[in-house]
Amino acid sequence: MIVKHSLDSKNPVVSGHLRDASRPPIVILVSSGIITRWLYSTNAKDIGIMYLCFAVFTGLIGTAFSILIRLELSAPGSQYLGGDHQLYNVVATTHGIIMIYFIVVPAMAGFANYMAPVLIGAPDKIRVNCVFIYTTLCPGN
Ligand code: HEM
Repeated sequence: MIVKHSLDSKNPVVSGHLRDASRPPIVILVSSGIITRWLYSTNAKDIGIMYLCFAVFTGLIGTAFSILIRLELSAPGSQYLGGDHQLYNVVATTHGIIMIYFIVVPAMAGFANYMAPVLIGAPDKIRVNCVFIYTTLCPGN
């Protein structure tokens, strides 16, 4: 079934031909161009926003680790980690690494990418940074 919408006839998603209910949502998402609009973008603000989204997402993970630490330390003795002290060390270390290298650093890169070209008037320094954000997403970068 095709759902037509008269409000925005220029947008292929809203205007109808990508709203075929027989197509899986992922196919609709890919064919709408939203993914390539972000991943292929060389716009400084887009890159900055992607860095910040990455930092927010990893922030949830780092916060989950800190909550686990807090719960484990909430009373004397062992609470949730089964008395495995080495596991506690792993959790605390992972928490620290995520907080610094996956939140603080990408967030600073995000603000820098967003603000610096605007401030110094150099809008096209950004193509190399596309590579940087993709390597940021790779473990072991
Ligand atoms: C933006 C950076 C960070 C934030 C927001 C953060 C946040 C937190 C929070 C909320 C807790 C729970 C504290 C509690 O209630 O007892 C915690 C605990 C802890 N964090 Fe972080 N953390 C950050 C960076 C780091 C780093 C870089 C390290 C180490 C390299 C680290 C190591 C630890 C350790 C060892 C604990 C357990 C502390 C304790 O004995 O109570 N954190 N962190």
